[in-house]
Amino acid sequence: MQRRQSQQLPIRYVDRGTGPVVVLLHGFVGSADYWERIVPLLERHFRCIVPDLLGHGLSDAPDGPYTIEQMADGVLQLLDELNIDRVVLLGHSMGGYTALSFAERYPERLSAFGLIHSMALPDDAAGREKRTAVAERVRREGVGPFAEQSAPNWFAPENAKSMHAELERVIGIGRETKPEGAAGAALAMRERPDRTGVIRDSKLPVLLVAGSEDGIAPPDKAFAAENGRTTRHIIEGVGHMSLFEAPQELARHIASFVERL
Ligand code: MLT
Repeated sequence: MQRRQSQQLPIRYVDRGTGPVVVLLHGFVGSADYWERIVPLLERHFRCIVPDLLGHGLSDAPDGPYTIEQMADGVLQLLDELNIDRVVLLGHSMGGYTALSFAERYPERLSAFGLIHSMALPDDAAGREKRTAVAERVRREGVGPFAEQSAPNWFAPENAKSMHAELERVIGIGRETKPEGAAGAALAMRERPDRTGVIRDSKLPVLLVAGSEDGIAPPDKAFAAENGRTTRHIIEGVGHMSLFEAPQELARHIASFVERL
C-alpha cells in the first residue's frame, strides 16, 4: 500500500478513507501491508491509519533492542502530528502488545481498542529464551529464513496447504524486514509485562478476535482478560493470520465493532 512519510518522525504510514479514525497495527516482521486486504473493506466507512511500526516496513530500523513502549509512543507521536485526538486502536499480535501499552498510558486518546490474534499475557521463561534466539538468528541470517520457516505455522494447517499466494505474500513482507528491526522487536516482545490488568481495569470497549487454530495466541490466551465491555469473536478454521486467511470475516467484525461505538 502507498505510504506517506511523516513530516517530523522516522515513520511511514498509510492514510486512507474518511470517517471515524481506526488505527491498525501490524505484527512481528509484518508491515502496514499486513492490512492490505482489510483497508479496502473499511475505507469507505472509516479513515484507516496504518503505520509501519519501529524497525518494520519502510519506517526506520535503528539498532535495538526496542521496547513495546517505544512502538506505542511512535503511534502517539504520529497521531499528534496528524492532529487526531481519539481513535479506535487495533493491533495484530505484536501490534496488539503495542495497542495495550498505548491503552495503559494514553487511554484518553482512545474510544476503544482491540487485539487481533494477540493477548495481554507476557512470555513465559521458554518463550523469552526463544526471543533471544530469534534475535540472534535474524541478525546472523537475515529475516528470510525465519519468515520462510515460521509463516506456514501462522496459518491453519489446511490454509497453509491451499493458500499459496497468501503464504508467499506474508513471507515476502517478512523478507523485507531489516535484521536490526526484527531483532530489536523480538527483544521488545521478550520484555513486555503482563497487561491483563490493562484490559480488566479499562472502561473502554475492547475487541478480541482469535483464530480457532492459532498456535501463538489461541482463544484461551487471547481471551485471558476481559472487561464488562468486551466483544469476543473466534474465527473458525483460521490460524494467526485472519488478515490473509479470512479478511472478509475479520473486516466484518471490525466494522460492526466500530459502528456500534
Ligand atoms: C506476531 O505475529 O506479531 C508474533 O507472532 C507475536 C509473537 O510472537 O508473540
